[in-house]
Amino acid sequence: MAKPATMVIFLVIALSIAHLPSLLAGTGRPRVIIVGAGISGILAEAGTTDILILEATDHIGGRMRKQSFARINVEIGANWVEGVNGGKMNPIWPIVNSTLKLRNFRSDFNNLTQNVYRDCEFTLYCFGCVQMHAMAILPNGPSSPVDMAVDYFTYDYEFAEPPRVTSLQNTVPLPTFTDFGDDTYFVADQRGYESVVHYLAGQYLNADDKSGNIADARLKLNKVVREISYSSTGVTVKTEDNSTYQADYVMVSASLGVLQSDLIQFKPQLPAWKILAIYQFDMAVYTKIFVKFPKKFWPEGAGREFFLYASTRRGYYAVWQEFEKQYPDANVLLVTVTDEESRRIEQQPDNQTKAEIMEVLRSMFPDEDVPDATDILVPRWWSDRFFQGSFSNWPIGVSRYEYDQLRAPVGRVYFTGEHTSERYNGYVHGAYLAGIDSAEILINCAQKKMCKYNVRGKHD
Ligand SMILES: Cc1cc2nc3c(=O)[nH]c(=O)nc-3n(C[C@H](O)[C@H](O)[C@H](O)COP(=O)(O)OP(=O)(O)OC[C@H]3O[C@@H](n4cnc5c(N)ncnc54)[C@H](O)[C@@H]3O)c2cc1C
Ligand SMILES: *[C@@H]1O[C@H](CO)[C@@H](O)[C@H](O)[C@H]1NC(C)=O
Ligand SMILES: *[C@@H]1O[C@H](CO)[C@@H](O)[C@H](O)[C@H]1NC(C)=O
Ligand SMILES: *[C@@H]1O[C@H](CO)[C@@H](O)[C@H](O)[C@H]1NC(C)=O
Ligand SMILES: *[C@@H]1O[C@H](CO)[C@@H](O)[C@H](O)[C@H]1NC(C)=O
Repeated sequence: MAKPATMVIFLVIALSIAHLPSLLAGTGRPRVIIVGAGISGILAEAGTTDILILEATDHIGGRMRKQSFARINVEIGANWVEGVNGGKMNPIWPIVNSTLKLRNFRSDFNNLTQNVYRDCEFTLYCFGCVQMHAMAILPNGPSSPVDMAVDYFTYDYEFAEPPRVTSLQNTVPLPTFTDFGDDTYFVADQRGYESVVHYLAGQYLNADDKSGNIADARLKLNKVVREISYSSTGVTVKTEDNSTYQADYVMVSASLGVLQSDLIQFKPQLPAWKILAIYQFDMAVYTKIFVKFPKKFWPEGAGREFFLYASTRRGYYAVWQEFEKQYPDANVLLVTVTDEESRRIEQQPDNQTKAEIMEVLRSMFPDEDVPDATDILVPRWWSDRFFQGSFSNWPIGVSRYEYDQLRAPVGRVYFTGEHTSERYNGYVHGAYLAGIDSAEILINCAQKKMCKYNVRGKHD
């Protein structure tokens, strides 16, 4: 007897799924609002083109970002395709190396330990390069400057946090390398690594014929989302310019650092389990400082691209890269700092940073004529309220259980971004795959009514 009524309800559901925007709101509201146009947000459209993307900055790409420096474009965010030449194909690699043919170079770290420079101020006899011995993992960490520099390169240079913070249980071995291979390729193309995001966006968003820039009403730039209200019937998203947008669902792709800040207010507040997961995970800071010189004074040639500075202060301008192959005549060096050094450097004027770097270089190359740098570029991802750091890192004491909760939806609010990646948090390919996966979780619920989200047990 109840059958006809049930049928009707099913029909209405089926209908409303197909024509939801007009049926539900009567105002042509989009099905899904995506917050953020980084690579994960752009990928999260999968399955429905009835979307609206709200991006806080004036461009897409997020943490894939080129910047002009010394008359070349350098990458201030992601630079490498990490995990290549292994059993499985890293999804970013064919886009970079085949489709777009972005100029790239395999990074060779094999001879790195032969390129360690001591801090000459503290050494009676100073040799430019010191020979390294095999490293053992010491319970309290290594204590000599050279061992600290190598330890820093091994862990911090990858995770942007020291091994006493990083959960080695969840990161060694790292799925990125066991799945996709141990090789990493440095992208050095004037179109920028971000052209991967432009390419992916161009698959479904319209581009301006002349400039090639995305020009589509479904992408709104300079829209800073400040408030997300959600209920069982839909979501309302408010932006800083006081615009209001309604949709059936919202997909939040802003970084973990943004979620840890008060930039976006959720109404009602997110549940305690979700807030806890957000605060338990780490947003690390990784800073790529580019410096330009009037001439080269550093060694070049095979096995010389990467070199280390061994200071008594761990992580003090420790990892260096020269660009003989990538940017042949630019006379540019890259030095990378992380974590506390990054935060310290972001807060001081660039000329102070430059002065510190000059002192370090003169200590590394006491026999060379080291000219003053003519230009310096210090990216500030940590102070930027739209990022609040560079990428997520898995801290000690956080299990798979809390990690899964980072991705879990809350009612009609869905989450994506590198920090929600099943296996590859912190990476471009992680963000890419997370975008696709999160969209699938949403589609399964919205279209197939498969809404159960499995969070693995705490001790699985
Ligand atoms: C310095 C640095 C070096 C890195 N190096 C590498 C590397 O070599 N290899 C690698 O694989 N990965 C690297 N990464 C990591 C990689 O860049 C990221 O994992 C990936 O780009 C993240 O993409 P996403 O879509 O998750 O986030 P994002 O790119 O951060 O996209 C989120 C978007 O949301 C926007 N947004 C934030 N808040 C709001 C708001 N309130 N309203 C509207 N929009 C908002 C942001 O502007 C941004 O565009 C690096 C990152 C950094 C910062
Ligand atoms: C990248 O592409 C080039 C040119 O097509 C090819 O020769 C090379 O083998 C590719 N590299 C890898 C690691 O796949
Ligand atoms: C938005 O609204 C608030 C409160 O009504 C107001 O204080 C603010 O100036 C408005 N901002 C803009 C950009 O209009
Ligand atoms: C790098 O190190 C290996 C092994 O130590 C050595 O055989 C090789 O010659 C070195 N390569 C360069 C370019 O120095
Ligand atoms: C940096 O510049 C400021 C202002 O021009 C100056 O006062 C300061 O002394 C400079 N610092 C260094 C280390 O050169």
